[in-house]
Amino acid sequence: MKTVTVKGGDRTSRILVGESLANLARYCPANSVIVTDERVGGLYGSIFPPFPVITIGQGEEEKTVRTVESIWERLLDLGADRSSFLVGIGGGIVCDVTGFAASTFMRGLPFGFAASTLLAQVDASVGGKNGVNFKGYKNMAGVFAQPEFVICDPALLNTLPPEEIQNGMAEIVKHGAISDADYFRFIEENADKALDLDPDVIESLVGRSVEIKAAVVTADEREAGERRKLNFGHTIGHAFEKVLKVSHGRAVSAGMAAAAALSVRRGLIPPEEAARLPCLLERLGLPVAFSAEPGSIEDALAKDKKKEGGVIHLVLLEAIGRARIEAVPVSELSAEIAALGLF
Ligand SMILES: NC(=O)c1ccc[n+]([C@@H]2O[C@H](COP(=O)([O-])OP(=O)(O)OC[C@H]3O[C@@H](n4cnc5c(N)ncnc54)[C@H](O)[C@@H]3O)[C@@H](O)[C@H]2O)c1
Ligand SMILES: [Zn+2]
Repeated sequence: MKTVTVKGGDRTSRILVGESLANLARYCPANSVIVTDERVGGLYGSIFPPFPVITIGQGEEEKTVRTVESIWERLLDLGADRSSFLVGIGGGIVCDVTGFAASTFMRGLPFGFAASTLLAQVDASVGGKNGVNFKGYKNMAGVFAQPEFVICDPALLNTLPPEEIQNGMAEIVKHGAISDADYFRFIEENADKALDLDPDVIESLVGRSVEIKAAVVTADEREAGERRKLNFGHTIGHAFEKVLKVSHGRAVSAGMAAAAALSVRRGLIPPEEAARLPCLLERLGLPVAFSAEPGSIEDALAKDKKKEGGVIHLVLLEAIGRARIEAVPVSELSAEIAALGLF
């Protein structure tokens, strides 16, 4: 097992890579309450520790204030108080909703996660961002609050559909692309084994990705600078996600390919080097382009939550393993996208 720490403003979080869900009780105080979704509860409920369980529905539509309200209600029914502890067992949606419900109930309960999807293990459960969607805007309402612990049990991934493994791989590729050329090469060399869920490869990938995300978040929890690099592929990716209703991982994959193409166009990275990115994504079964109505993508970009005063902080590549951030007016970005004929 590998333990990685994230030092946040409110508390230090321990990410336990390779720990088993069966050991979860060791980390939970006596007055814990579990939050899970229908699917994860159905698959693994029998090995949950013996605490009350709140079950939410599945899917992005459930990531709402309404679901958070239903959790607050159950917490009241269960007699929860400021000494209670919430444990989210599930994917990114359960983690986001649990972290938000915990941080707002009675001005904030401590919480922990057992992350059950690859995406949640390498991304959603790490970093202290917890939030819900509102009026069609992703993560519109939320808080920064670190979980006390995150358990990343690789055995849980065996019941995931292949598309969910691919979604997680998109974020793993992102980590290599923005900050670690050796890691990127490791992913290239082990792409097939990763898709086959080779236990050693998966544990190495989760361990290294968590280290990379933890280091970035520790340096810049509130996304004033360095943390923005984790948005590589996400600006255009979120637009795809919203307009085309594709999954986050697939949207980010095509978003990264688009950001790499923009990096080449701006003369930041040689085309042959940038080409390694879409090549790897395709080997992982991920899309590198979508066809969409350009106007609809521009509209979605213009509404991006991360836009500040008409400017988007676009993450570009200087090399495989090195990212830089450029402030680009939305209008300029739209023109560049049009010039590249990306969609
Ligand atoms: N807070 C953050 O920093 C952050 C970062 C990245 C993504 N996110 C959020 O994470 C969410 C996506 O997370 P996700 O991809 O994990 O989606 P998810 O939580 O919806 O899980 C995907 C599906 O897999 C099922 N599932 C979960 N674990 C399983 C298992 N072990 N076996 C079989 N099925 C299982 C779930 O029930 C669900 O149907 C998005 O809402 C995104 O915004 C948050
Ligand atoms: Zn992401």
